[in-house]
Amino acid sequence: ETGYVTLDPSFMNTAACYSQITYIDGEKGILRYRGIPIEDLVKKTMFVEVAYLLVHGELPTEDERQKFSELLNVNSMLHEDMRHFFDHFPAGAHPMHILSTMINALAAFYPNVDLKSMADDIDVSTARLISIVRTMAAFAYKKSIGDPVVYPRHDLSYCANFLNMMFDSPVKPYQIHPEAVRILNILFILHADHEQNCSTTTVRTVGSAQVNLYATISAGISALSGPLHGGANQEVIEMLKLIQADGNVRKFIDMAKDRNNPFRLMGFGHRVYKTYDPRAAIIKKECHAYLEKTNYSDPLLDVARQVEEVALTDPYFIERNLYPNVDFYTGILYRALGIPENMFTVMFALARLPGWVAHWKEMIGGTTKIVRPRQVYIGKTPAETAEVLARREL
Ligand code: SDX
Repeated sequence: ETGYVTLDPSFMNTAACYSQITYIDGEKGILRYRGIPIEDLVKKTMFVEVAYLLVHGELPTEDERQKFSELLNVNSMLHEDMRHFFDHFPAGAHPMHILSTMINALAAFYPNVDLKSMADDIDVSTARLISIVRTMAAFAYKKSIGDPVVYPRHDLSYCANFLNMMFDSPVKPYQIHPEAVRILNILFILHADHEQNCSTTTVRTVGSAQVNLYATISAGISALSGPLHGGANQEVIEMLKLIQADGNVRKFIDMAKDRNNPFRLMGFGHRVYKTYDPRAAIIKKECHAYLEKTNYSDPLLDVARQVEEVALTDPYFIERNLYPNVDFYTGILYRALGIPENMFTVMFALARLPGWVAHWKEMIGGTTKIVRPRQVYIGKTPAETAEVLARREL
């Protein structure tokens, strides 16, 4: 009789969207990019080939791969005027804030940001974003430690170039280890796309208003920086350090179960995966292998293992299908690579860029309609408000 339909609030959490890019089966723990399982991609491809796959729908031929690599190389330099932007950020500025600001500013430095130009030359747009942003990220790190920036080199692969820009120094040359490059490729591949997560939905929504690609990606960076999303990998390490210092794993597991306690087991749970996140399974295995291979020991890995053991045998976690997600072991590998904790979410953003570009391209190629979700109104009815009005004197 009210004329309003009320739906179960859980309906509000879902919004169907059609895409050909990534397939997830949350019950079975399956993740495929353009139909290819991630387990095959990490064994047989490099990150830049996966970037091409996500954007184009097919892995590149050798000729396409070489052309794309050359585009990455010629688009790896940051405009020198933009380099001076770093002089004006305070030393403690979080690199995600720097990144979202700098990416937005790219629209001022590169003309033809209209959608048609950007989509028609998608390889340049993709290469410019994933290459320049990689340079920006390394420059932000150098700025944060007061070191001079290291420029990209034309003779290095994507991941080797990033590690070199991060850790090379005029007084202490960085030795590029093939194993570190292999691990970084795997981490970037595993983070490259994940269907309609919070930041990708942000990119599709903002992009649908025909905002230029740089501003659209900047919005995605902001969404990803949240502690419940991409910021979780940094939160996991903070949490493991707390548990290590306290020594009582069970205490933290019980805190996470207490609904009156805001503490959550970071790196656990997922809106879609109701089993082990397939990315976390690969990262966990690579974590153990890499630390063994490089004789690098990290006590936090043992803490993580204990947390997982206790949680996965606890009815609260079992009943809610709460398992480790992509963020649970990632931070331990980044630490082993020498990446500082405030750069962990930047690493996630670098990897997710091709996924965002692929969704933006798919969205603008499909419709020019702006994203405008309809809501289900569950507020007051006219009958409920008439009384209030009747009591007011005009
Ligand atoms: C990413 O969407 C994507 O694909 C994201 C991502 C990607 O690649 O883009 O996979 C990357 O963001 C991974 C998630 C990283 N975030 C974290 O690790 C933060 C910790 N996790 C939780 O905050 C939570 O699990 C979320 C945010 C990830 C998912 O939350 P949901 O789906 O909204 O689940 P929920 O909050 O409704 O939880 C259901 C129940 C609740 O308990 P009850 O109300 O049933 O009693 O499970 C509990 C929650 O309290 N719960 C947790 C928990 N996660 C859920 N309890 C303790 N610790 C947790 N981590």
